[in-house]
Amino acid sequence: MTTINTVGVIGAGQMGSGIAQVMATAGNTVILVDMAQAQLDKAKAGIEKSLAKFVAKEKITAEQQQAALGNLTFATSNDALKEADLVVEAIVENEGVKVGLFKELDNLLKPGAILASNTSSISITRLAAATKRPEQVIGMHFMNPVPLMTLVEIIRGAQTSDATYTAIDALTKALNKTPVVANDYPGFISNRVLMPMINEAIYTVYEGVGTPEAVDTVMKLGMNHPMGPLTLADFIGLDTCLAILNVLHDGFGDPKYRPCPLLKQYVDAGWHGKKAGRGFYTYD
Ligand code: CAA
Ligand code: NAD
Repeated sequence: MTTINTVGVIGAGQMGSGIAQVMATAGNTVILVDMAQAQLDKAKAGIEKSLAKFVAKEKITAEQQQAALGNLTFATSNDALKEADLVVEAIVENEGVKVGLFKELDNLLKPGAILASNTSSISITRLAAATKRPEQVIGMHFMNPVPLMTLVEIIRGAQTSDATYTAIDALTKALNKTPVVANDYPGFISNRVLMPMINEAIYTVYEGVGTPEAVDTVMKLGMNHPMGPLTLADFIGLDTCLAILNVLHDGFGDPKYRPCPLLKQYVDAGWHGKKAGRGFYTYD
């Protein structure tokens, strides 16, 4: 089984920064890469704030906080990942962009290294097929916000080996998270179930049945969801929600997954949700 000590994470957005944080807290040496220095600066500040919160709540000690920060380095070039035992990709939800990155990483990484994707919906089998190491490619799908959410959905592509699966299953448990295995079909389990609900909530607003506040309140108070579906969509990122719905729609060829025109319009306007300051709601 591959021994995982050094972990590369590519994409320092909301997911990549959380993945880097939990990997470093569990004692791994972590290199977080983003092409944008501003994103790395934002990720570093977010990780520091999150770890400080955990210390204040006595979930980790000050020593563990310092050890986690000491395990982390930041880089703008993928060349920093040459010695990684595992790379977790968490860049934009776009198959063409991910395939290009997987090809590049396949040429760069040492032969035994595992390539994992945090994709929400895209075929692991197709990402694997773009490399010369398809048996060492796997889906490692964390949930947002990564430091708080305990699920990791593990997606086995058609060619993922048992050794790769075993290594990622063990790592997930070492992060104190619960792995659940899904087979490789569009949206896996999580987003096949979640996104139709979010899309229907958007249609409910689009068709004038209720305001975003009304829809969210019904689902929070009526169904005990921690966040209403439109708040959650803003939190995930409306660009990401649209990308996932397009993968479901194209992948199954079923009109029940057609993205709501209102979602498309918001994404066209650049209203990508909380990270952009505006989505169904506005944010500071
Ligand atoms: N690190 C450390 N602490 C954090 C944190 C972080 N990253 N994020 C929030 N917290 C803290 C908050 O600051 C807060 O602390 P205080 O009690 O001191 O104020 C505490 O955690 C609880 O947070 P909140 O009071 O804001 O709210 P909450 O009790 O509702 O919990 C939540 C927050 C866990 C995010 C909860 O709202 C929730 O579970 N929401 C739904 C999340 C969800 O569904 N995620 C999955 C999205 S789908 C996905 O990820 C897959 C995909 O492919 C799209
Ligand atoms: P995000 O927009 O917050 O961040 C993406 C980051 O990737 C940005 O910092 C961007 O600069 C960087 N990036 C883009 N292309 C790059 C490249 N070629 N090399 C290096 N960095 C690059 O996105 P996010 O919400 O963190 O989502 C990232 C991935 O995680 C997506 O595949 C998404 O579907 C998945 N995901 C998202 C959520 C969620 O709730 N947002 C949950 C689970 C999985």
